[in-house]
Amino acid sequence: MIVIGSDHGAFELKSVLVEHLKSKGVEVCDCGVFDATSVDYPDVAQVVCEKVNSGNYEFGILLCGTGIGISIAANKIDGIRCALVNTEYAAEKAKQHNNANVIALGGRVLGPDLAKNILDAFMNTSFEGGRHQMRIDKIHALEK
Ligand code: RB5
Repeated sequence: MIVIGSDHGAFELKSVLVEHLKSKGVEVCDCGVFDATSVDYPDVAQVVCEKVNSGNYEFGILLCGTGIGISIAANKIDGIRCALVNTEYAAEKAKQHNNANVIALGGRVLGPDLAKNILDAFMNTSFEGGRHQMRIDKIHALEK
C-alpha cells in the first residue's frame, strides 16, 4: 500500500499517479486534496508522513505546485526522508542511496508521462545498503 497526498497545486497530477498505480495493481491510500480549493501544503505533508511513519505503507508520495514546499515540510518530521525528484535519475538515486520513504513531485513542473516514469523508476529500484545505510543513520541522528 502506498499513501499519496497533494495540495491544490497538484491535485490533477496526483489523480494521474493514483490511476497509474491502480493500473499496476498497487493499492493506494489517497489523502486528497481532490479539487483546486487552496490548502496549506504542510498540513498535507503531516497527514501523509504520519501514515508513512506508522509503518503500514511501502512509501509516500507528496505533491505541491513545485514539490519544494511540501518536501521541506516533510523533512521536518522525524523519521522522514523525502526526496524531491524531477528526473528518473534522481528517483533511482533517491532509492539506491537515500532509501527515501517519501518522494515529492511538482504538479506545475512535471508533465504526466514524465511523472509516471519518475515514479516507476523509484519503484523499480532497490536500496543498496552498506555505506548508504550508515549515512542514513547519520541523517536521523541529526533529529536528536
Ligand atoms: C501553492 O500555491 C504553492 O506555493 C505550492 O503548491 C508549492 O508550490 C509550494 O512549494
